[in-house]
Amino acid sequence: MKAETKKHTRRSLRIAGAVALVLGMAGTTPAVAAQDPGREVIDKKCASCHLEGGKLTRIPEMRKSPEGWDMTVVRMGIWHKVELTPDERRAVVKYLADRQGLAPSESASFRFLTERRPNMQDAPPDDEMAQMCGRCHSYGRVALQRRDEDEWRKLMHTHLGQFPSAEYSALGRDRNWWEIARDKMPGRLAEMYPKNTDAWRDWSRAKHRPADGRWVVAGERPGWGAYTGTMTARAKGKDQYEVRYELHFGAGNTVRGQGEAVIYTGYEWRGSAKLGNEDTRSIFALNEDGSRISGRWFLKGADEIGASFEAVRADKAAKNALVAVTPHMLRAGETATVTVAGAGLDAKLDLGPGVEVVEWLGKSAEQLKLRVKVAADAAPGLRKVAVGGRESDKSVAVYRHIDSVRVEPAFGIARVGGGTNPPMTAQFDAVAFLNGADGKPGTDDDLRLGSVPAKWSTEPFDERAKHDEDLKFAGHMEPHGQFLPSFAGPNPNRRGLNNVGNLSVVATVADGERSLNAKGQLVVTVQRWNPTPLR
Ligand code: HEC
Ligand code: HEC
Repeated sequence: MKAETKKHTRRSLRIAGAVALVLGMAGTTPAVAAQDPGREVIDKKCASCHLEGGKLTRIPEMRKSPEGWDMTVVRMGIWHKVELTPDERRAVVKYLADRQGLAPSESASFRFLTERRPNMQDAPPDDEMAQMCGRCHSYGRVALQRRDEDEWRKLMHTHLGQFPSAEYSALGRDRNWWEIARDKMPGRLAEMYPKNTDAWRDWSRAKHRPADGRWVVAGERPGWGAYTGTMTARAKGKDQYEVRYELHFGAGNTVRGQGEAVIYTGYEWRGSAKLGNEDTRSIFALNEDGSRISGRWFLKGADEIGASFEAVRADKAAKNALVAVTPHMLRAGETATVTVAGAGLDAKLDLGPGVEVVEWLGKSAEQLKLRVKVAADAAPGLRKVAVGGRESDKSVAVYRHIDSVRVEPAFGIARVGGGTNPPMTAQFDAVAFLNGADGKPGTDDDLRLGSVPAKWSTEPFDERAKHDEDLKFAGHMEPHGQFLPSFAGPNPNRRGLNNVGNLSVVATVADGERSLNAKGQLVVTVQRWNPTPLR
């Protein structure tokens, strides 16, 4: 390639230079790379602005998550009028995320953001970072990128150029925002999130296991409960899969579905599937050796409603790989039917002292089903489950009675909606706890037993909410703990308030003869108009 370009004229040199540089990024041979549709997009649609002295500018200088790349490419469209077809957009994002992505260890601590978990707590390292960089968008948006100081600084210039009000808005005008952003932040950011890391070097050089095959899966959907099942992925092109699901919920219903998935950066699974009659999206990650998958799936257009997801590869190599034990709670003095899901399971199960197997109901490599008797004096607490003589990371909880219940999330947000912006609901869950060693509820040593069925109701959160009749206007609670907010308004009966509200969410849980209560808070507020993939 180099020898060839020497003979060319100046003009063709520039174009060839762009190609050579992108090839360098790709690290592949020209013959193969020439066919990559993502690279063609860069040559055709990006190089016109991003080429200087025969070299691509900006684009090769950073690493991002698939969502991060997608948001940048979309910005090129909105701010700089770069027009891409949906296929071109997909191709260029795939190309860049594969070659300039994050290693699994680099994206791990912000997966809650990638997975769009509702009510997540952002995780900035300190106050300065939180206030400087985590007030207009999540801090995670920052932490899911890698660049050197110079490129972090360019991004600061982009911010000020595009949003001069950054200096004058709250937490900007109480300090010399621009001086700090220009002089201090880039160095700090480059130290925490540098472009070149060992983790990325190792990950980008390693070969990654494709996802095709059969997987045993499990998870929990707040409001619906736990499920186990299977997923089968069939390769239909490089990093592309056709996927089938069969999920069995504890309540007895089975949900089947199928869809597709693309794997970015060797481990970032992004899928869509119709599960039962619901359109869903999945955001999963394969682990480093490709033997497990974890993540979350949620409803298309309502990402607050979803389920956790875990899977183990069900191939010959799997040996006592557990994915779930249900139910998670066993009451002392009672018998229960326990289901263990996993791959390569041996019919040899140990649930700890005082829990005795009374009958086997099913023994297969992917599922063990059995009746157990829990001794009346079995010690309450969490125990690790062992299968085939090997301790797993799954546990079951033995309890005599529930000590306390908590509403999760303790603080939820729902948003009124209507018209072009549908309402955003809030899903609550009631979770049972034991007091732990200190004998007191609500402390750090409480033992989490798991979700329990509850009766749900709402109350005004405070006097103000009572006075404004928030209960009447803000929406209503469904029996399974999902709050459905009202329409956005205008509501002439409520003057400036329309249908917002501040409510207490009350869960009432029956435990034998006893009844326990727990409270959470729900704020029903205004719409979000910019639902970005990374908040
Ligand atoms: C019409 C000119 C133009 C085209 C075409 C263009 N860009 Fe840009 N790009 C810019 C400008 C101007 C900036 C700096 C301001 C900004 O970040 O939006 C930029 C910045 C960037 C950055 C740095 C953003 C960051 O996070 O700091 C990346 C990456 C990028 N472009 C990628 C692309 C890709 C990929 C394409 C092709 C799909 C593309 N650009 C096409 C003008 C363009
Ligand atoms: C005044 C509000 C505001 C503040 C403060 C702010 N940002 Fe942003 N930032 C934005 C907006 C808005 C976008 C989205 C731009 C777009 O893509 O349209 C953005 C986008 C980003 C992106 C994604 C850019 C891309 O193309 O990949 C990163 C990374 C980022 N900001 C980092 C930072 C850092 C680091 C700081 C602190 C020094 C910071 N931001 C402070 C408003 C802000």
